[in-house]
Amino acid sequence: MGLGYPLREEAEQLWQEGMDYRAKNTPYGPNSPAYIVHTQNVAKFAYKIAEKTKALNPEKAYVLGLLHDYGKRISERKANVFHGLEGYHAMISFGYSDVAKICLTHTFPNKDFPVDAIGYPRDWMMEAKQILNNVEYDDYDRLIQFCDKLSDGAEIVSIEKRATLIRDRYNSRKEYSGISEERYETLLSEGLFLKKYFDEACGEDTYKLIGIK
Ligand SMILES: [Fe+2]
Repeated sequence: MGLGYPLREEAEQLWQEGMDYRAKNTPYGPNSPAYIVHTQNVAKFAYKIAEKTKALNPEKAYVLGLLHDYGKRISERKANVFHGLEGYHAMISFGYSDVAKICLTHTFPNKDFPVDAIGYPRDWMMEAKQILNNVEYDDYDRLIQFCDKLSDGAEIVSIEKRATLIRDRYNSRKEYSGISEERYETLLSEGLFLKKYFDEACGEDTYKLIGIK
């Protein structure tokens, strides 16, 4: 059995293919700077943090970060598919089980999340949950969850800022049901848990490491 993830060169090729597919098959057009910068930033942050820990492989972290949103090659609304599941199934079909796992786990720091509280359609969340039931989280899952939170579109943000941005975004979009104050508190505490976890694993302040003020 091979690795559960591609090496950097192939990952970058897959990433580009995802971009090209997205340009053709979604309303977002050929240039989605926020998406491009977001995925590159998550890869970069994951590498930086992994490099400072004793246990994580920075190259693997980079590849997982770069491909975590591969499922965004489709429009969730247009295809009526959750991007995490789109990425999961695509990566399984390529034989990259570690990336498949990340495509799904990066959205759910708590895999026992309440299906109705996320702000996504219930049937998408039920399917995600069914797969997550058989998954055990490791430090790569936690690392990409953390880095994903620190990268909001093309911006680099703190956990505190990100939680506020998500609340405002979901509450302003009528296709989603919005998120409650309780959900906002959960987003914040899950993020701060990850921050503490990786500060300790790195032996330094990860905000400083990444350049967050
Ligand atoms: Fe992401």
